[in-house]
Amino acid sequence: MPTPSYVGSMAGQDFLNTNDYSQDEIVSILRAAGDLRSDFRNKVQTQYLSGKTLFMLFYNRSLRTRNSFEAGIYQLGGHAHFLSPSDVYTPTLPEDMVPYQTEAIADVGRVLSRYGDAIAIRVYGDAAKWVIGRGHRIIQEFARWSSIPVLNMEDDVFHPFQALADMRAILDVAPKPKGKKFVVSYAYSGGLKPLAVPQSCVLIGTQFGMDVVLAHPKGFDLEDHVIKAAKENANKYGGSFEVVNDMKEAFKDADFVYPKAWSPKTFVPPYNKAVDKDGASAYQNSFKDWKCTQEMMDLTYKAKYMHCGPVDRGQEATDDVVDNDAYSVYFEQAENRLHVQKAVMAMVMGA
Ligand code: CP
Repeated sequence: MPTPSYVGSMAGQDFLNTNDYSQDEIVSILRAAGDLRSDFRNKVQTQYLSGKTLFMLFYNRSLRTRNSFEAGIYQLGGHAHFLSPSDVYTPTLPEDMVPYQTEAIADVGRVLSRYGDAIAIRVYGDAAKWVIGRGHRIIQEFARWSSIPVLNMEDDVFHPFQALADMRAILDVAPKPKGKKFVVSYAYSGGLKPLAVPQSCVLIGTQFGMDVVLAHPKGFDLEDHVIKAAKENANKYGGSFEVVNDMKEAFKDADFVYPKAWSPKTFVPPYNKAVDKDGASAYQNSFKDWKCTQEMMDLTYKAKYMHCGPVDRGQEATDDVVDNDAYSVYFEQAENRLHVQKAVMAMVMGA
């Protein structure tokens, strides 16, 4: 089994945000993911990380992320070690320490670095006290103190592995995505969801020169630093970036649509004095008509339907859209999580 050149090509690096990497580096990851996907389908052995351990720390629940990382490291010959924050002394930022219940992230990161080869973390929402940016700061704190790579399995600002899986799905149907219209739209859900997916989507879409349209009702703006970075990407890579407040206008002639929920950030810190989850829920309940239906898909240019999962069926999108084999790539996106994560793990954890 010859070892491919991508193994170890990013040895020791953290993966917190796709926009920390150049377009060329993201292309290399997606190529490796394509190769690993073929290997998986052809039952080719890919045990490039034999004997390596990935620690997975989940402050939030998960289907896709947990199982694709765990299966992925096993298929690479390594071992996944699941850590629930309530089963260890909860890894915590300095200002929130409670004696014998929490442990400083600075210490947890340094201890785990002596046992294994990478630490992957998911933290947002309640686990980050709904202070937007706090989840990302927790992951940055791990990255600061750990001497092994830290992987962001979704925080309250970015979901980089989802964005990689999404771009892999886009490349599969549009190998040259530059100039394709990619609509990232708010869609209603009764739950409160983080900003991470739309933020990472607009960044990776603009990084590939797509014409990215962000659609949302008033009050659902993404963070300013993300809007700024998306505009810079559009200038740098020759695409465009536009924000509109009308879902139908956005869908017109789209090549890819990604309608999903996120929460109105002005109800939580640092955009509000206190966390007001009831206010956020009540506000988003006025936008139940932001739903992806067949009628909405008919406005597009034979667009592919995308969603990171879990999709709230009947709220964000109707069943006939999600399950439409002609244009839905919902399960392809989920499938690609396995392969993009294996690619990054092989690149950063490989010798
Ligand atoms: N898309 C995604 O991250 O799914 P899970 O919440 O199931 O991990």
